[in-house]
Amino acid sequence: MRPPNGIEFDFAGHLAFFQSFLRDPAIVGALSPSSPVLARAMIDGFSLSNADTVVELGPGTGAFTGPILERIGRLATFIAMELDPASVRTLKRRFPDLNVYNDSAERMLDYLALHGKKRAKYIVSGLPWANLPIDDQMRIMDIIVKGLSPDGVFTTFAYVHALWLPNARQFRRLLKSRFAHVETSPVIWANLPPAFVYRCSHLDRSLIGHKATSPGVR
Ligand SMILES: C[S@@+](CC[C@H](N)C(=O)[O-])C[C@H]1O[C@@H](n2cnc3c(N)ncnc32)[C@H](O)[C@@H]1O
Repeated sequence: MRPPNGIEFDFAGHLAFFQSFLRDPAIVGALSPSSPVLARAMIDGFSLSNADTVVELGPGTGAFTGPILERIGRLATFIAMELDPASVRTLKRRFPDLNVYNDSAERMLDYLALHGKKRAKYIVSGLPWANLPIDDQMRIMDIIVKGLSPDGVFTTFAYVHALWLPNARQFRRLLKSRFAHVETSPVIWANLPPAFVYRCSHLDRSLIGHKATSPGVR
């Protein structure tokens, strides 16, 4: 289906995503997949053709996966980790060669090791952080910190309407406690709902391998 603006509308993908949302709203965390505009903002400035290892956490039905696969080098290792089995089936159908694992982002290091890798240059996350309790946020963030290359970049997004939620504010503080640079993109109004991207780099290396402390809930 092609609307007047020429951008392909993936009806089947939206339907599959919505069905996953109905089955587990807290885990899926959105009614529909992210837009192509948000997908581009998530990988803006990435040198994907030169990247050795790339990880996607919470790919859903593949809104970011497609653009990553289009740009990534032929020899790169690309791993996707998705908790929802139906989304994993959709991903396998859409991208037959994708290394997608039906497991939690918390096990990212095990799957990197399975591919003979310790760290990724880029980690792209679609995880619904604002729905996650602080302990879960911290556990997954510690894995991301351990699995990101020293010169790597981590991107994730947040919905504007959910910014006031305690867990969303907590997540922002968590990012700032783990990365020296946390940039935010302009709001992407074309996404439904409107969202922006966090682009994080320069890990605080002192936290790696140590038990990280909570940035505190205010
Ligand atoms: C907001 S949706 C984003 C999907 C997709 N990236 C997009 O932007 O359209 C969040 C996705 O994260 C997945 N998810 C939630 N918790 C997860 C976890 N611990 N490990 C892996 N995937 C998870 C959900 O199943 C869902 O597909």
